[in-house]
Amino acid sequence: MKNDAKFQMPSLKEAKLRRNLNIETIRYKTNNKYQNIGYGKTYSIFTYGCQGNEADSEIMAGILEDIGYTKSADPYDANLILLNTCCIRENAEQRIWGVLGQLKGKKREKKDMLVGICGCMPQEESATKKIIESYDVDIIFGTHNRHHLPELIYNAYNSNGKVVEVISSEGNIVEDTPKVRESKHKAWVNIMFGCDEFCTYCIVPYTRGRERSRNKDDIINEVKELVKEGYKEVTLLGQNVNAYGKDLGIDYTFGDLLYDLDKTGIERIRYTTSHPRDLDLKTMEAMRDCKSVMPHLHLPVQSGDNQILKIMNRKYTYEEYVSKINKLKELVPNISITTDIIVGFPNETEEQFQNTLKLVDEVKFEGAFTFIYSPREGTPAAKMPDSISMEEKHDRLNRLIEKTNAGYLEGHKRFVGKKVKVLVDGVSKNGSDMMCGYSENLKLTHFKSTDQSLIGKIVEVEVTEAKTWFMIGNLVND
Ligand code: SAH
Ligand code: SF4
Ligand code: F3S
Repeated sequence: MKNDAKFQMPSLKEAKLRRNLNIETIRYKTNNKYQNIGYGKTYSIFTYGCQGNEADSEIMAGILEDIGYTKSADPYDANLILLNTCCIRENAEQRIWGVLGQLKGKKREKKDMLVGICGCMPQEESATKKIIESYDVDIIFGTHNRHHLPELIYNAYNSNGKVVEVISSEGNIVEDTPKVRESKHKAWVNIMFGCDEFCTYCIVPYTRGRERSRNKDDIINEVKELVKEGYKEVTLLGQNVNAYGKDLGIDYTFGDLLYDLDKTGIERIRYTTSHPRDLDLKTMEAMRDCKSVMPHLHLPVQSGDNQILKIMNRKYTYEEYVSKINKLKELVPNISITTDIIVGFPNETEEQFQNTLKLVDEVKFEGAFTFIYSPREGTPAAKMPDSISMEEKHDRLNRLIEKTNAGYLEGHKRFVGKKVKVLVDGVSKNGSDMMCGYSENLKLTHFKSTDQSLIGKIVEVEVTEAKTWFMIGNLVND
């Protein structure tokens, strides 16, 4: 007999709280009750949003394969389809409503198909209500309980109605989950979860919970294990990696972690994302001293106007940002800096926007993700009246992109005639006699070769041509 489905809805009010609860580290173990529920069944996971979601999808794939599921060859024809979602901006959500609409038809054709929606979108009260009311989805869960997946699937098979479990207040750390990594040579490594910054435009502190760091030994052991398995590159992940360790109450910071990870023998270390206020000297020195820490920093600035930065609650000024960049360029002269910028924050004047353009000129970013401000329910900025028209915001975005695109090109031009080290990812999309990978400065580099044995290796390429989005070069033979 089927039981009533589990029903736990998200609460934005709960998600805002930062209570001083002890953060627990849970060690994942498969429960025998669920051991074979995926036997003979297939799964597929659609991932949207940031690297945090990509890393979570690898964990969910690991958990699913551990309970017997195999990956479906056709992602739309699986017994279990999971959508790992993002709600950072309105258009991120729009995409997902579109996919949910498409899946309605698929579910009608394939009666035993389960559809699950997870990640950041279900953490929003209004999104979860809409999913329940308007879409044929069997399982809804959030960012804090992906390790409950076997139980949620079991409940979906054995209950009437939708299984909804969105936890808003919890924020523990789950170690030892199985993982199926997408790449054999590059790996995501979470070093912390959540965010306590509460930038006034941003939904992440509500969808991902409070800031909590993994124990350093768990991180170091994971990287050592990856080295043994032949991985060449790790990207350390967190919403604000520079705050690493603060919540642990120990005298050990992100800079210390970089020095320790450099000793593991991993060839390349990258990290994202950094917060300009918390980026400290020790981290910059580690970038100078550690051979494995790559000469690229993504440092989101959001705006070049001090008044806007203040209303955004970013806690630094134009001058402080530029001064940190200058220090970094002094310590790591070859470094490439990229950033995130928001235009059209409520009431942003043309003059304030001009300050952003001025900053872009001054810092010489070699890449930028640029966004039009998108109001997010429950955030302080969403309540601010806004006098700037959408037309004006689009115009500003276009003017900004013109500048940032020129920055991409300049960033590539400076390597023409030079030799760069490229970690080979695979065959280029724009020509089957070309292969590609990323240089140390995170420049996409194409070179002539059909030798697939190079995939996962670091090769030397002499750059001959610079384009806006990539560089072209020739393989240097020893
Ligand atoms: N933790 C990171 C990344 C957050 S999300 C950081 O602090 O930078 C990635 C980017 O999305 C942000 O840097 C910001 O530029 C953009 N973003 C976040 N909320 C937004 C919103 N409401 N509207 C438009 N862009 C937003
Ligand atoms: Fe959002 Fe700010 Fe946290 Fe980044 S630091 S995730 S922009 S609240
Ligand atoms: Fe999106 Fe959530 Fe990442 S809102 S950007 S998937 S933290």
